[in-house]
Amino acid sequence: MGEEERRILTSEAPIASLEEYRRRGGGQALEKVLQTDPADVIEIIRKAGLRGRGGGGFPTAVKWDGVRRSEASRKFVCANGAEGEPGTFKDRYLMRQNPYQIVEGLAIAALVIGAEMAYLAVKRHMTREIGALQRALDEFQAGTEVARKIDLVLGPDEYLFGEEKALLEVIEGGQPLPRLLPPYLQGLFGGALGGPESNPTVVNNIETLAHVPQIILKGPDWFRSFGTQDTPGTMIFTISGDVQKPIVRESPLGVTLRELIYDLAGGLKEGRRVKAIFSGVANAVVTPEMLDLPLSFDSMKQAGSGLGSAGFIVYDDTACMVDVAYWFSRFLHVESCNQCPPCKMGSREITTHLRRLLDGEGNRGDLEDIPYVASWTPNGARCFLAWEESIVVTSILREYPEDFAAHIEGTCLLRHDLQLPKMTDFLQDEGFTYDQTYHRKQPDWSYSDDPVVI
Ligand SMILES: Cc1cc2nc3c(=O)[nH]c(=O)nc-3n(C[C@H](O)[C@H](O)[C@H](O)COP(=O)(O)O)c2cc1C
Ligand code: SF4
Repeated sequence: MGEEERRILTSEAPIASLEEYRRRGGGQALEKVLQTDPADVIEIIRKAGLRGRGGGGFPTAVKWDGVRRSEASRKFVCANGAEGEPGTFKDRYLMRQNPYQIVEGLAIAALVIGAEMAYLAVKRHMTREIGALQRALDEFQAGTEVARKIDLVLGPDEYLFGEEKALLEVIEGGQPLPRLLPPYLQGLFGGALGGPESNPTVVNNIETLAHVPQIILKGPDWFRSFGTQDTPGTMIFTISGDVQKPIVRESPLGVTLRELIYDLAGGLKEGRRVKAIFSGVANAVVTPEMLDLPLSFDSMKQAGSGLGSAGFIVYDDTACMVDVAYWFSRFLHVESCNQCPPCKMGSREITTHLRRLLDGEGNRGDLEDIPYVASWTPNGARCFLAWEESIVVTSILREYPEDFAAHIEGTCLLRHDLQLPKMTDFLQDEGFTYDQTYHRKQPDWSYSDDPVVI
Protein backbone atom coordinates (compact mmCIF):
# COMPACT_ATOMS: atom_id res chain seq x y z
CA MET A 1 0.00 0.00 0.00
CA GLY A 2 1.21 3.53 -0.76
CA GLU A 3 1.43 6.10 2.02
CA GLU A 4 -1.88 7.79 1.02
CA GLU A 5 -3.69 4.44 0.76
CA ARG A 6 -2.73 3.58 4.33
CA ARG A 7 -4.81 6.49 5.60
CA ILE A 8 -8.55 6.90 6.10
CA LEU A 9 -8.76 10.22 7.90
CA THR A 10 -5.86 12.40 6.90
CA SER A 11 -3.96 13.33 3.77
CA GLU A 12 -0.74 15.14 2.91
CA ALA A 13 -2.39 18.57 2.90
CA PRO A 14 -5.45 19.72 4.89
CA ILE A 15 -8.81 19.68 3.09
CA ALA A 16 -9.60 23.34 2.57
CA SER A 17 -13.25 23.41 1.48
CA LEU A 18 -16.44 21.37 1.27
CA GLU A 19 -16.05 21.45 -2.50
CA GLU A 20 -12.66 19.73 -2.22
CA TYR A 21 -14.07 17.26 0.32
CA ARG A 22 -16.92 16.39 -2.07
CA ARG A 23 -14.48 15.98 -4.98
CA ARG A 24 -12.77 13.28 -2.89
CA GLY A 25 -16.06 11.46 -2.32
CA GLY A 26 -17.03 13.25 0.91
CA GLY A 27 -20.72 13.68 1.70
CA GLN A 28 -21.83 10.54 -0.15
CA ALA A 29 -22.06 8.45 3.03
CA LEU A 30 -24.49 10.93 4.53
CA GLU A 31 -26.64 10.73 1.36
CA LYS A 32 -26.58 6.93 1.64
CA VAL A 33 -27.56 6.99 5.31
CA LEU A 34 -30.58 9.18 4.49
CA GLN A 35 -31.86 6.28 2.33
CA THR A 36 -30.95 3.45 4.75
CA ASP A 37 -32.65 1.93 7.78
CA PRO A 38 -30.68 3.07 10.88
CA ALA A 39 -30.46 -0.52 12.11
CA ASP A 40 -28.69 -1.47 8.87
CA VAL A 41 -26.20 1.38 9.29
CA ILE A 42 -25.39 0.15 12.79
CA GLU A 43 -24.95 -3.37 11.41
CA ILE A 44 -22.32 -2.04 8.97
CA ILE A 45 -20.46 -0.34 11.85
CA ARG A 46 -20.72 -3.52 13.92
CA LYS A 47 -19.31 -5.69 11.13
CA ALA A 48 -16.49 -3.21 10.60
CA GLY A 49 -15.53 -3.63 14.27
CA LEU A 50 -15.11 0.10 14.87
CA ARG A 51 -13.91 0.79 18.44
CA GLY A 52 -13.82 4.16 20.16
CA ARG A 53 -10.63 6.17 19.69
CA GLY A 54 -11.09 8.23 22.87
CA GLY A 55 -9.05 5.82 24.99
CA GLY A 56 -11.32 2.97 26.04
CA GLY A 57 -11.85 1.17 22.73
CA PHE A 58 -15.56 0.59 23.36
CA PRO A 59 -17.46 -0.87 20.35
CA THR A 60 -19.20 2.05 18.63
CA ALA A 61 -22.09 -0.02 17.26
CA VAL A 62 -23.05 -1.23 20.75
CA LYS A 63 -23.12 2.36 22.04
CA TRP A 64 -25.23 3.61 19.12
CA ASP A 65 -27.61 0.67 19.18
CA GLY A 66 -28.36 1.06 22.89
CA VAL A 67 -29.42 4.67 22.44
CA ARG A 68 -31.22 4.06 19.14
CA ARG A 69 -33.35 1.32 20.71
CA SER A 70 -34.22 3.37 23.79
CA GLU A 71 -37.86 4.45 23.93
CA ALA A 72 -36.95 7.84 25.37
CA SER A 73 -38.40 10.66 23.31
CA ARG A 74 -35.30 12.90 23.39
CA LYS A 75 -31.82 11.70 22.47
CA PHE A 76 -28.55 13.49 21.82
CA VAL A 77 -25.09 12.88 20.44
CA CYS A 78 -21.82 14.61 21.34
CA ALA A 79 -18.51 14.64 19.54
CA ASN A 80 -15.71 14.76 22.09
CA GLY A 81 -12.90 17.01 20.84
CA ALA A 82 -11.66 18.11 24.26
CA GLU A 83 -8.30 16.33 23.88
CA GLY A 84 -6.53 16.86 27.18
CA GLU A 85 -4.44 13.72 27.54
CA PRO A 86 -0.75 14.60 27.96
CA GLY A 87 1.26 13.37 24.98
CA THR A 88 -1.70 13.38 22.60
CA PHE A 89 -2.32 15.74 19.70
CA LYS A 90 -4.27 13.52 17.33
CA ASP A 91 -7.69 15.17 17.59
CA ARG A 92 -6.34 18.67 17.00
CA TYR A 93 -4.36 17.34 14.04
CA LEU A 94 -7.51 15.76 12.61
CA MET A 95 -9.58 18.92 13.16
CA ARG A 96 -6.95 20.88 11.22
CA GLN A 97 -6.60 18.27 8.48
CA ASN A 98 -10.12 17.12 7.82
CA PRO A 99 -12.89 18.89 9.78
CA TYR A 100 -15.42 17.88 7.11
CA GLN A 101 -15.17 14.18 7.89
CA ILE A 102 -15.76 14.87 11.59
CA VAL A 103 -18.90 16.89 10.80
CA GLU A 104 -20.17 14.26 8.38
CA GLY A 105 -19.57 11.47 10.93
CA LEU A 106 -21.41 13.42 13.61
CA ALA A 107 -24.33 14.15 11.28
CA ILE A 108 -24.57 10.44 10.47
CA ALA A 109 -24.55 9.52 14.17
CA ALA A 110 -27.34 12.05 14.80
CA LEU A 111 -29.47 10.55 12.04
CA VAL A 112 -28.87 6.95 13.08
CA ILE A 113 -29.71 7.33 16.77
CA GLY A 114 -32.51 9.82 16.12
CA ALA A 115 -30.88 12.74 17.95
CA GLU A 116 -32.74 15.95 18.62
CA MET A 117 -29.44 17.86 18.61
CA ALA A 118 -25.75 17.11 18.15
CA TYR A 119 -22.88 18.90 19.92
CA LEU A 120 -19.30 19.26 18.85
CA ALA A 121 -17.28 20.06 21.98
CA VAL A 122 -13.76 21.51 21.88
CA LYS A 123 -11.61 23.64 24.15
CA ARG A 124 -12.03 27.38 24.00
CA HIS A 125 -8.32 27.98 23.43
CA MET A 126 -8.13 25.74 20.33
CA THR A 127 -8.59 28.74 18.09
CA ARG A 128 -7.08 27.25 14.94
CA GLU A 129 -9.17 24.09 15.22
CA ILE A 130 -12.33 26.07 16.03
CA GLY A 131 -11.77 28.07 12.83
CA ALA A 132 -11.51 24.89 10.76
CA LEU A 133 -14.56 23.28 12.37
CA GLN A 134 -16.67 26.43 12.12
CA ARG A 135 -15.85 26.70 8.42
CA ALA A 136 -16.79 23.06 7.84
CA LEU A 137 -20.00 23.49 9.82
CA ASP A 138 -21.01 26.67 7.98
CA GLU A 139 -20.44 25.03 4.59
CA PHE A 140 -22.29 21.84 5.53
CA GLN A 141 -25.14 23.74 7.16
CA ALA A 142 -25.72 25.81 4.02
CA GLY A 143 -26.85 22.73 2.09
CA THR A 144 -27.57 19.90 4.54
CA GLU A 145 -30.60 19.81 6.82
CA VAL A 146 -29.20 17.47 9.47
CA ALA A 147 -25.98 19.51 9.82
CA ARG A 148 -28.12 22.40 11.10
CA LYS A 149 -28.71 20.37 14.24
CA ILE A 150 -25.03 20.58 15.16
CA ASP A 151 -23.85 23.15 17.71
CA LEU A 152 -20.22 23.94 18.41
CA VAL A 153 -19.59 24.11 22.18
CA LEU A 154 -16.47 25.76 23.60
CA GLY A 155 -15.27 24.45 26.96
CA PRO A 156 -12.52 24.96 29.56
CA ASP A 157 -8.93 23.76 29.52
CA GLU A 158 -9.38 21.26 32.37
CA TYR A 159 -8.45 17.59 31.72
CA LEU A 160 -11.83 16.47 33.04
CA PHE A 161 -13.67 18.35 30.29
CA GLY A 162 -12.90 15.31 28.07
CA GLU A 163 -14.42 12.85 30.54
CA GLU A 164 -17.79 12.04 29.03
CA LYS A 165 -19.95 12.70 32.09
CA ALA A 166 -18.16 16.01 32.70
CA LEU A 167 -18.51 16.90 29.00
CA LEU A 168 -22.29 16.73 29.35
CA GLU A 169 -22.14 19.06 32.36
CA VAL A 170 -20.17 21.59 30.31
CA ILE A 171 -22.59 21.38 27.38
CA GLU A 172 -25.37 22.12 29.87
CA GLY A 173 -23.48 25.24 30.94
CA GLY A 174 -21.82 23.87 34.09
CA GLN A 175 -18.31 23.02 35.30
CA PRO A 176 -16.40 19.93 34.10
CA LEU A 177 -17.43 17.82 37.10
CA PRO A 178 -18.27 14.22 36.20
CA ARG A 179 -21.84 13.34 37.13
CA LEU A 180 -22.69 9.98 38.65
CA LEU A 181 -24.40 8.09 35.86
CA PRO A 182 -23.14 7.33 32.35
CA PRO A 183 -24.54 9.28 29.35
CA TYR A 184 -26.85 6.47 28.25
CA LEU A 185 -28.58 6.53 31.65
CA GLN A 186 -28.47 10.27 32.29
CA GLY A 187 -28.08 12.14 29.05
CA LEU A 188 -28.16 15.81 28.20
CA PHE A 189 -30.79 18.00 29.86
CA GLY A 190 -32.39 14.88 31.32
CA GLY A 191 -33.47 13.09 34.47
CA ALA A 192 -31.81 9.85 35.45
CA LEU A 193 -31.99 6.10 35.83
CA GLY A 194 -32.89 5.16 32.29
CA GLY A 195 -36.48 6.45 32.57
CA PRO A 196 -38.39 8.13 29.74
CA GLU A 197 -36.88 11.52 30.67
CA SER A 198 -33.30 10.23 30.80
CA ASN A 199 -32.49 11.59 27.33
CA PRO A 200 -29.89 8.91 26.52
CA THR A 201 -26.87 10.42 24.85
CA VAL A 202 -24.02 9.04 22.77
CA VAL A 203 -20.57 10.50 23.41
CA ASN A 204 -17.93 9.62 20.85
CA ASN A 205 -14.41 10.81 20.28
CA ILE A 206 -14.12 12.89 17.11
CA GLU A 207 -11.68 10.42 15.53
CA THR A 208 -14.19 7.61 16.07
CA LEU A 209 -16.87 9.65 14.29
CA ALA A 210 -14.54 10.60 11.42
CA HIS A 211 -14.09 6.90 10.61
CA VAL A 212 -17.80 6.39 10.06
CA PRO A 213 -18.35 7.96 6.58
CA GLN A 214 -15.66 5.85 4.88
CA ILE A 215 -16.90 2.67 6.56
CA ILE A 216 -20.39 3.30 5.24
CA LEU A 217 -19.17 4.16 1.78
CA LYS A 218 -16.59 1.42 1.31
CA GLY A 219 -17.93 -1.31 3.60
CA PRO A 220 -16.77 -3.34 6.61
CA ASP A 221 -14.43 -5.62 4.64
CA TRP A 222 -12.55 -2.65 3.25
CA PHE A 223 -12.19 -1.20 6.77
CA ARG A 224 -11.04 -4.55 8.10
CA SER A 225 -8.31 -4.64 5.45
CA PHE A 226 -6.58 -2.11 7.74
CA GLY A 227 -5.45 -2.88 11.27
CA THR A 228 -5.82 -6.02 13.36
CA GLN A 229 -8.60 -8.51 14.05
CA ASP A 230 -9.60 -6.90 17.36
CA THR A 231 -8.91 -3.28 16.35
CA PRO A 232 -9.56 -2.80 12.64
CA GLY A 233 -8.78 0.46 10.86
CA THR A 234 -6.19 3.15 11.39
CA MET A 235 -5.39 5.44 14.28
CA ILE A 236 -3.60 8.77 14.48
CA PHE A 237 -0.47 8.24 16.57
CA THR A 238 1.36 10.96 18.49
CA ILE A 239 5.03 10.24 19.28
CA SER A 240 6.79 12.72 21.54
CA GLY A 241 9.56 12.91 24.13
CA ASP A 242 13.11 11.73 23.53
CA VAL A 243 12.78 11.08 19.78
CA GLN A 244 14.65 12.92 17.04
CA LYS A 245 11.55 13.90 15.07
CA PRO A 246 8.28 14.06 17.05
CA ILE A 247 5.32 13.13 14.87
CA VAL A 248 1.56 12.97 14.54
CA ARG A 249 0.85 10.31 11.94
CA GLU A 250 -2.04 8.13 10.86
CA SER A 251 -1.13 4.47 10.49
CA PRO A 252 -3.01 1.15 10.40
CA LEU A 253 -3.29 -0.56 13.79
CA GLY A 254 -0.87 -3.46 14.10
CA VAL A 255 2.08 -1.14 13.58
CA THR A 256 4.68 -1.58 16.33
CA LEU A 257 6.15 1.05 18.63
CA ARG A 258 9.58 0.20 17.21
CA GLU A 259 8.33 1.13 13.71
CA LEU A 260 6.70 4.32 14.95
CA ILE A 261 9.73 5.40 16.99
CA TYR A 262 12.58 4.31 14.73
CA ASP A 263 11.12 4.43 11.20
CA LEU A 264 8.81 7.43 11.51
CA ALA A 265 10.02 9.49 14.47
CA GLY A 266 13.73 9.31 13.60
CA GLY A 267 14.74 7.09 16.53
CA LEU A 268 16.52 8.25 19.67
CA LYS A 269 19.69 10.31 20.05
CA GLU A 270 22.91 8.52 19.07
CA GLY A 271 23.79 5.87 21.64
CA ARG A 272 20.58 6.14 23.65
CA ARG A 273 18.03 3.38 24.21
CA VAL A 274 14.35 3.35 25.17
CA LYS A 275 13.78 3.23 28.91
CA ALA A 276 10.04 3.84 29.24
CA ILE A 277 7.06 4.76 27.09
CA PHE A 278 3.73 6.07 28.35
CA SER A 279 0.44 6.02 26.46
CA GLY A 280 -0.74 9.24 28.04
CA VAL A 281 -1.03 9.20 31.83
CA ALA A 282 -3.87 6.71 31.91
CA ASN A 283 -2.09 3.37 31.60
CA ALA A 284 0.76 1.36 33.10
CA VAL A 285 4.21 2.11 31.69
CA VAL A 286 5.15 0.41 28.41
CA THR A 287 8.58 -1.20 28.80
CA PRO A 288 11.16 -1.82 26.02
CA GLU A 289 10.11 -5.50 25.81
CA MET A 290 6.82 -4.30 24.28
CA LEU A 291 8.46 -2.43 21.39
CA ASP A 292 7.63 -5.18 18.88
CA LEU A 293 4.04 -5.73 19.93
CA PRO A 294 1.53 -5.09 17.09
CA LEU A 295 -0.50 -2.23 18.56
CA SER A 296 -4.21 -2.79 19.24
CA PHE A 297 -6.57 -2.30 22.18
CA ASP A 298 -6.43 -6.00 23.12
CA SER A 299 -2.71 -6.59 22.59
CA MET A 300 -1.80 -3.64 24.80
CA LYS A 301 -4.25 -4.70 27.47
CA GLN A 302 -2.93 -8.25 27.46
CA ALA A 303 0.60 -6.87 27.81
CA GLY A 304 -0.49 -5.09 30.99
CA SER A 305 -0.84 -1.55 29.63
CA GLY A 306 -3.28 0.10 27.22
CA LEU A 307 -3.45 1.76 23.82
CA GLY A 308 -5.22 4.82 25.25
CA SER A 309 -5.58 7.54 22.67
CA ALA A 310 -2.40 6.40 20.85
CA GLY A 311 -0.26 9.23 22.21
CA PHE A 312 3.12 7.79 23.22
CA ILE A 313 5.66 9.70 25.33
CA VAL A 314 9.11 8.18 24.94
CA TYR A 315 11.88 8.45 27.56
CA ASP A 316 15.45 7.34 26.94
CA ASP A 317 17.87 5.85 29.45
CA THR A 318 18.97 9.26 30.75
CA ALA A 319 15.50 10.11 32.14
CA CYS A 320 14.76 9.77 35.85
CA MET A 321 11.53 7.92 36.50
CA VAL A 322 11.04 9.57 39.90
CA ASP A 323 10.76 12.86 38.02
CA VAL A 324 8.30 11.35 35.52
CA ALA A 325 6.18 9.81 38.31
CA TYR A 326 6.10 13.15 40.13
CA TRP A 327 4.91 15.17 37.14
CA PHE A 328 2.26 12.63 36.14
CA SER A 329 0.98 12.36 39.71
CA ARG A 330 1.00 16.13 40.17
CA PHE A 331 -1.01 16.53 36.96
CA LEU A 332 -3.66 14.04 38.07
CA HIS A 333 -3.86 15.57 41.54
CA VAL A 334 -4.26 19.10 40.18
CA GLU A 335 -6.88 17.98 37.65
CA SER A 336 -8.87 15.86 40.12
CA CYS A 337 -12.12 17.70 40.90
CA ASN A 338 -12.46 16.67 44.57
CA GLN A 339 -15.99 15.28 44.23
CA CYS A 340 -14.66 11.95 45.53
CA PRO A 341 -12.38 12.75 48.50
CA PRO A 342 -10.13 9.63 48.23
CA CYS A 343 -9.16 10.71 44.71
CA LYS A 344 -8.07 14.24 45.65
CA MET A 345 -6.54 13.21 48.99
CA GLY A 346 -4.79 10.09 47.72
CA SER A 347 -3.30 11.80 44.68
CA ARG A 348 -2.09 14.62 46.94
CA GLU A 349 -0.41 12.19 49.35
CA ILE A 350 1.25 10.29 46.52
CA THR A 351 2.46 13.50 44.88
CA THR A 352 3.88 14.72 48.22
CA HIS A 353 5.77 11.45 48.76
CA LEU A 354 7.16 11.65 45.21
CA ARG A 355 8.23 15.25 45.72
CA ARG A 356 10.11 14.32 48.90
CA LEU A 357 11.84 11.49 47.08
CA LEU A 358 12.65 13.75 44.13
CA ASP A 359 14.15 16.38 46.45
CA GLY A 360 16.34 13.80 48.16
CA GLU A 361 14.33 14.09 51.40
CA GLY A 362 12.48 10.79 51.05
CA ASN A 363 13.08 7.42 52.68
CA ARG A 364 11.85 3.83 52.51
CA GLY A 365 8.71 4.87 54.37
CA ASP A 366 7.66 7.15 51.50
CA LEU A 367 8.27 4.34 49.05
CA GLU A 368 6.23 1.85 51.06
CA ASP A 369 3.38 4.27 51.60
CA ILE A 370 2.75 5.01 47.91
CA PRO A 371 1.28 1.59 46.92
CA TYR A 372 -0.87 1.61 50.05
CA VAL A 373 -2.30 5.07 49.28
CA ALA A 374 -2.71 4.07 45.61
CA SER A 375 -4.84 1.11 46.74
CA TRP A 376 -7.52 3.36 48.28
CA THR A 377 -7.28 6.40 45.97
CA PRO A 378 -9.91 4.99 43.54
CA ASN A 379 -12.41 4.16 46.34
CA GLY A 380 -15.86 5.33 45.27
CA ALA A 381 -14.46 7.09 42.20
CA ARG A 382 -17.00 8.62 39.82
CA CYS A 383 -14.55 8.55 36.96
CA PHE A 384 -11.40 6.83 35.78
CA LEU A 385 -9.00 9.63 36.76
CA ALA A 386 -8.49 8.19 40.24
CA TRP A 387 -7.60 4.82 38.70
CA GLU A 388 -5.12 6.50 36.38
CA GLU A 389 -3.25 7.87 39.40
CA SER A 390 -3.13 4.47 41.00
CA ILE A 391 -2.20 2.52 37.86
CA VAL A 392 0.45 4.78 36.36
CA VAL A 393 2.35 5.56 39.58
CA THR A 394 2.48 1.99 40.92
CA SER A 395 3.63 0.73 37.50
CA ILE A 396 6.60 3.16 37.55
CA LEU A 397 7.50 2.09 41.08
CA ARG A 398 7.34 -1.56 40.08
CA GLU A 399 9.44 -1.23 36.91
CA TYR A 400 12.14 1.25 38.00
CA PRO A 401 12.95 0.53 41.69
CA GLU A 402 16.60 1.44 41.08
CA ASP A 403 15.69 5.05 40.25
CA PHE A 404 13.81 5.40 43.54
CA ALA A 405 16.62 3.70 45.49
CA ALA A 406 19.12 6.13 43.95
CA HIS A 407 17.04 9.08 45.18
CA ILE A 408 16.95 7.67 48.71
CA GLU A 409 20.70 7.08 48.63
CA GLY A 410 21.38 10.45 46.99
CA THR A 411 23.22 8.88 44.06
CA CYS A 412 20.91 9.63 41.13
CA LEU A 413 22.79 11.07 38.13
CA LEU A 414 19.89 10.93 35.69
CA ARG A 415 18.16 13.81 33.88
CA HIS A 416 15.73 15.93 35.89
CA ASP A 417 14.72 18.56 33.35
CA LEU A 418 11.53 16.74 32.36
CA GLN A 419 8.26 18.57 31.96
CA LEU A 420 4.68 17.53 31.71
CA PRO A 421 3.98 16.92 28.00
CA LYS A 422 0.76 18.93 27.89
CA MET A 423 0.79 19.94 24.26
CA THR A 424 -0.28 23.32 22.95
CA ASP A 425 0.76 23.13 19.30
CA PHE A 426 2.42 21.00 16.64
CA LEU A 427 4.31 22.19 13.61
CA GLN A 428 5.47 19.56 11.12
CA ASP A 429 9.10 20.71 11.04
CA GLU A 430 9.43 22.05 14.55
CA GLY A 431 7.60 19.48 16.66
CA PHE A 432 5.47 20.18 19.72
CA THR A 433 5.19 23.15 22.01
CA TYR A 434 4.14 22.55 25.60
CA ASP A 435 2.08 24.43 28.14
CA GLN A 436 4.68 26.52 29.98
CA THR A 437 2.18 27.73 32.57
CA TYR A 438 1.17 24.36 33.93
CA HIS A 439 3.61 24.33 36.87
CA ARG A 440 1.68 27.35 38.16
CA LYS A 441 -1.70 25.59 38.13
CA GLN A 442 -3.07 24.90 41.62
CA PRO A 443 -5.24 22.02 42.87
CA ASP A 444 -8.27 24.36 42.90
CA TRP A 445 -7.66 24.98 39.15
CA SER A 446 -6.61 28.60 39.64
CA TYR A 447 -3.16 29.79 38.56
CA SER A 448 -0.59 31.19 40.94
CA ASP A 449 1.95 33.82 39.89
CA ASP A 450 4.74 31.50 41.01
CA PRO A 451 5.50 27.81 40.49
CA VAL A 452 3.34 25.65 42.75
CA VAL A 453 5.24 22.87 44.51
CA ILE A 454 3.03 20.03 45.78
C1 LIG B 1 -10.06 12.06 32.88
C2 LIG B 1 -10.55 11.64 31.52
C3 LIG B 1 -10.33 12.47 30.42
C4 LIG B 1 -10.80 12.10 29.16
N1 LIG B 1 -10.55 12.92 28.11
C5 LIG B 1 -11.00 12.58 26.87
C6 LIG B 1 -10.80 13.44 25.76
O1 LIG B 1 -10.18 14.51 25.87
N2 LIG B 1 -11.30 13.06 24.55
C7 LIG B 1 -12.01 11.89 24.40
O2 LIG B 1 -12.47 11.59 23.30
N3 LIG B 1 -12.21 11.05 25.44
C8 LIG B 1 -11.73 11.37 26.66
N4 LIG B 1 -11.99 10.54 27.72
C9 LIG B 1 -12.80 9.32 27.49
C10 LIG B 1 -14.30 9.69 27.46
O3 LIG B 1 -14.78 9.66 28.80
C11 LIG B 1 -15.15 8.72 26.60
O4 LIG B 1 -14.85 7.41 26.99
C12 LIG B 1 -14.93 8.88 25.12
O5 LIG B 1 -15.12 10.20 24.67
C13 LIG B 1 -15.89 7.95 24.37
O6 LIG B 1 -15.68 8.02 23.00
P1 LIG B 1 -15.27 6.75 22.13
O7 LIG B 1 -16.20 5.63 22.50
O8 LIG B 1 -15.44 7.20 20.73
O9 LIG B 1 -13.84 6.42 22.48
C14 LIG B 1 -11.50 10.88 29.00
C15 LIG B 1 -11.73 10.05 30.11
C16 LIG B 1 -11.24 10.43 31.35
C17 LIG B 1 -11.47 9.53 32.52
S1 SF4 C 1 -12.61 10.27 40.56
FE1 SF4 C 1 -11.47 12.15 40.99
S2 SF4 C 1 -11.57 13.34 39.12
FE2 SF4 C 1 -13.14 11.74 38.95
S3 SF4 C 1 -15.04 12.70 39.72
FE3 SF4 C 1 -14.04 11.74 41.49
S4 SF4 C 1 -12.73 13.35 42.39
FE4 SF4 C 1 -13.31 14.01 40.34
